[in-house]
Amino acid sequence: MLGESKKSVVLTGATGFLGAFLLAGLLDQGYQVTALGRSSAQIRLADRLSGLVRWLDLNPRQRLLPVEGDFTKKHFGLDDKTYSQLCADTDIIIHCASDTSFAERNRKRILETNINNLSSLLEFAEDSQAKRFYYISTAYAVGVREGICLEEPAEVNHKFTNVYEESKARAEEIISNGCKKIGIPLSILRPSIVYGHSKTGRALKFNALYYAVKSISYIKDIFVKDIVEHGGERSKKWGFNLNNDGTLNIPLTVYLPEDGAVNLISVDHFVDTTLSIIENDDDGIYNITCDNPPNILTISDYIESFLGIRGIKVIYKPSEKQLNPAEELFARFFEPYRPYLSDRREFDRSHTISVVNGLSTPPLTYDIFNRCMSYAVACDWGKISSFPK
Ligand SMILES: NC(=O)c1ccc[n+]([C@@H]2O[C@H](COP(=O)([O-])OP(=O)(O)OC[C@H]3O[C@@H](n4cnc5c(N)ncnc54)[C@H](OP(=O)(O)O)[C@@H]3O)[C@@H](O)[C@H]2O)c1
Repeated sequence: MLGESKKSVVLTGATGFLGAFLLAGLLDQGYQVTALGRSSAQIRLADRLSGLVRWLDLNPRQRLLPVEGDFTKKHFGLDDKTYSQLCADTDIIIHCASDTSFAERNRKRILETNINNLSSLLEFAEDSQAKRFYYISTAYAVGVREGICLEEPAEVNHKFTNVYEESKARAEEIISNGCKKIGIPLSILRPSIVYGHSKTGRALKFNALYYAVKSISYIKDIFVKDIVEHGGERSKKWGFNLNNDGTLNIPLTVYLPEDGAVNLISVDHFVDTTLSIIENDDDGIYNITCDNPPNILTISDYIESFLGIRGIKVIYKPSEKQLNPAEELFARFFEPYRPYLSDRREFDRSHTISVVNGLSTPPLTYDIFNRCMSYAVACDWGKISSFPK
């Protein structure tokens, strides 16, 4: 438990989706937060954080300090005085920054960010004598498997879906060994796939679940335009037509290897659980996952209702027919996420449940889905730089 004065937290990744919401939660709880990050496109870190503070309706007073540093450099490239001050001001470290690309073509950059950069952070943990290191990993650091996934160390020589998963498993191992060597307590937090705030719909990044909806919305726009503006000859050939109720019939079959679920949690659940874990101050691994995840049929019903379409079908076998243009586009857009649509892993949460006082992610109802997707549409799926409140 925290004493009279709240701990000082050094948070990496505060400019990202999860980090920004976690920053809000930490400030709300009275923590002093140093956001260790970088500038972007000529915008200084301090200005990036000011934008986030306005968007999140925060009032951090003096409790948020930006420190611009470079993880590739010793002491983050800071001068001696700034680095010593940073060390003196640190109680706990939350490492939330990560390269979150899944693409094999980005392997070098992903490994550089997620693995090589750990040496400056571990050196910082030792220099500051941090009371605890929190690493934000992923539930998928366990790699490709079926059945129950325990809150236990990942196996780095396992089969992984992509280089991102592999890098997170290897990072867990490096951080565990590093923290053990320097005597810093460690907690590893493993969220599954995170969508927006369940009550406000807000989010900062629109990938994964959002990407499926965005792809199908894009496909819908192409065919509606063909039908309304160009007579729809091409659409008719493939069985696309406008129904009497104004919905568009899209014969879109999604081929999945097998039946399974999509393990989704809301960002507010991620923050609440993380704050409870921090308050509890205990070692170990925590799965921050959903116990009753929806399956793809529920999600596709939601997508049909949200976009005003009909005709999405899910088949559990490889495709044997020629794909229609909608299926081809969907396959191209969504390929990296396909393995997460029919997930047969179940995540044990015994350790997490023991510290979070019955917290569990809200079931993904159509109301929540609609709120989150409506927000994404209002942000043009992240294309506009200033997001609505
Ligand atoms: N989103 C999910 O569904 C999900 C699920 C499970 C686990 N996670 C984990 O949660 C954490 C946050 O994910 P997210 O979705 O919030 O990611 P995100 O939105 O992509 O944000 C990534 C953050 O990491 C920072 N970063 C990336 N590369 C960096 C580098 N080379 N040097 C310094 N900072 C760097 C980014 O800084 P810039 O803004 O400067 O680029 C940003 O603040 C990650 O560790 C991720 O593995 C996420």
